[in-house]
Amino acid sequence: MKEYIEVDEWKIIERGFNPQHNKISESIFSLGNGRMGQRANFEEAYSGDTLQGNYVAGVYYPDKTRVGWWKNGYPEYFAKVLNAANWIGIDVLIDGEQLDLAKCQVSSFSRELNMKEGYLKRTFTAKTTAGKMVDVETVRFCSMADDETGAIKYTISPVNFSGKITLTPFIDGDIANKDSNYDEKFWDEVKKEIWGDGGYIQLRTKKTGFEVATGMLFTILQNTVPVHLFSTTFEKEKYVAAKVELTVKQGESASVIKYAANLSSQNYPAAELSVNLKQTLTRIRKKGFETMLAEQAEAWSGKWKHNDIIIEGDAAAQQAIRFNIFQLNQTYTGEDDRLNIGPKGFTGEKYGGSTYWDTEAYCVPFYLSTADQKVTKNLLLYRYKQLGKAIDNAKLLGFKNGAALYPMVTMDGTECHNEWEITFEEIHRNGAIAYAIFNYVRYTADEAYLADYGLEVLIAIARFWSQRVNWSADKQQYVMLGVTGPNEYENNVNNNWYTNKQATWCMQYAMDAVEKVKQAAPAKYAALVSKINFNEAEETAKFKDIVAKMYFPYDEKERVFLQQDGYLDKEQILVKDLPATERPINQKWSWDRILRSCYIKQADVLQGIYFFEDQYDLDTIRRNFDFYEPRTVHESSLSPCVHAILAAKLGDEARAYEFYLRTSRLDLDDYNNDTEDGCHITSMAGTWMSVIEGFGGMRVKDGKLSFQPFLPGKWRSFSFHIGFRGALLNIKVSKDGVQIKNLSGSETTVWVYDKEQLVKPDDELLVEA
Ligand code: BGC
Repeated sequence: MKEYIEVDEWKIIERGFNPQHNKISESIFSLGNGRMGQRANFEEAYSGDTLQGNYVAGVYYPDKTRVGWWKNGYPEYFAKVLNAANWIGIDVLIDGEQLDLAKCQVSSFSRELNMKEGYLKRTFTAKTTAGKMVDVETVRFCSMADDETGAIKYTISPVNFSGKITLTPFIDGDIANKDSNYDEKFWDEVKKEIWGDGGYIQLRTKKTGFEVATGMLFTILQNTVPVHLFSTTFEKEKYVAAKVELTVKQGESASVIKYAANLSSQNYPAAELSVNLKQTLTRIRKKGFETMLAEQAEAWSGKWKHNDIIIEGDAAAQQAIRFNIFQLNQTYTGEDDRLNIGPKGFTGEKYGGSTYWDTEAYCVPFYLSTADQKVTKNLLLYRYKQLGKAIDNAKLLGFKNGAALYPMVTMDGTECHNEWEITFEEIHRNGAIAYAIFNYVRYTADEAYLADYGLEVLIAIARFWSQRVNWSADKQQYVMLGVTGPNEYENNVNNNWYTNKQATWCMQYAMDAVEKVKQAAPAKYAALVSKINFNEAEETAKFKDIVAKMYFPYDEKERVFLQQDGYLDKEQILVKDLPATERPINQKWSWDRILRSCYIKQADVLQGIYFFEDQYDLDTIRRNFDFYEPRTVHESSLSPCVHAILAAKLGDEARAYEFYLRTSRLDLDDYNNDTEDGCHITSMAGTWMSVIEGFGGMRVKDGKLSFQPFLPGKWRSFSFHIGFRGALLNIKVSKDGVQIKNLSGSETTVWVYDKEQLVKPDDELLVEA
């Protein structure tokens, strides 16, 4: 755990230069706007420890899988989001000496991520080996208002000399992915151009043929006044640059404002990219840096209006929750149904930028409550559009009749996991995808979604489960063999309780949805039946039989659902009795030892109880929580939030708060020693859930919002916004009770502490605890 980030309610601040933490800071201070994003690399050269990262959403490369012995069913490739052209680069020479913070003496360094207005600012003083000192200030952002663009203002002032400052803004596309399987570069050059005050390169990805044009236009200022100076241009393969030399007096300044844009062939015909790019660059330069920055602040203010959580009395918790919300908004805006949410967003290469079950299981609740309905709908449509590939994927593995197995890891619908027994066997992801449909319909009441898209997915998933189980003559029940549950520290187990639960729930929900759609949209139902060849009588009879006769492992002595067959054969040494020196076990133990142990990486049985809590009484929840919590090591960032919500439900406020702290400052304090790889974006949605569903006790019950809040001991109050079926509510929990403000024109009814309350437009009411 590291605690070098300064606490501030609206900013993330690093004061003092910490080269040993540079890669962590590059992750934490990342910028993005849903369409593109980047790590917080420096504009000027840096020969120290760094992980360069610029990413364009949806642009990926299918890197050939690397395995020892090939087996049928292995995915051909592991798709990865590409490290794309660097558009932030500005080389700086000070009287001929390169500015490189790894080689200069650095003082007064500070890096600030302004979350309120969405920009990154860095200031420092550097002394070159020749003893020349300069003050530098740089401000940059990825525009939320104009999501193909970004801008940088880089200002340098000589402190103890007058001399020559050379500024060379460049675009560099000669970039490699760190996680490339065969050390290949994935980009080819299509064309480039460079002129006096700008230039661009257009690159094409190997195999996938995406083209991305990345360009710049710049303005040079001398003491804040634009100047037109001669520049020398350079080009080499996948690289363009323009060098400008200025004579700057001591105490005066030179600045470059670099306007940049990234346009992709996903949105324009490849042949028209460069024309559109030049138009975009001209447009934003005309607008100017300050106007773009003001638009950025306005766009963020719009986001915060719906998203902010205000915590009074605990600045560290306030900073943390805002950081989580900020990063989620930077990663996914819901504008484009071809895009999704990679576990690291735009902050690193790990997990290849691919889509995991994280989206449906963790991120959907956040976007449902804090963004327009279409944002979550787009996330669902992403999977709907990939249904054909999910069916192909199942077919490859021997399933038939339109059964679908969604991939565990994907870019375009094709499975591209790279660990067979872990990720491949995590077929439970099919359940999360069905659950997200249920969650969306429950939250929005958009029943039409079922008829238009949802039911087709649900039937395909139910078909898969019905073929994946088998009848055990011995047990006289259905069983499910050879799976990995959410707990990835158990592989290839039989009858993972969570997976069996998801399977039967999906089949039941598919049958319920059949009934609903048949009633509400008979013509659409008939069309679907014929499209997918659905034999309702026969297939639902099979689903029903499985639902009725599924085997669920249970231990009579402990009276808990068993994670899987044989779980209790394991040596039961609780986590508290495990020496701290042996943790995290995934860094200290062999895989063999992990698999034989009773330790649980992340919520598994408890994940099922979280999803289906209405089916269990409090005693059952408590028994299972008390049994599994002490065995859980939380070595996935997705784990503590589920435990926080269940602890809150059980009235264990102290533990709920403990789990919340673990999730909310995970990256800011580098809890798991891995923030340098990128931030844990999808688990940030879990942090949001811990506050809203945990401390706020929010649920949707019978079409209404319901709250059972409590105030964590350290806090004076907390408040949040929730959008629900056209209403926008502000809920504030304090010692006085729960204050509800309706900020919208729609009236709504909510339950607070089991009392029903009508909240009319612009109403404000207080419900005492
Ligand atoms: C977790 C998975 C998760 C993946 C990506 C793994 O460590 O165990 O549940 O899908 O990370 O976040």
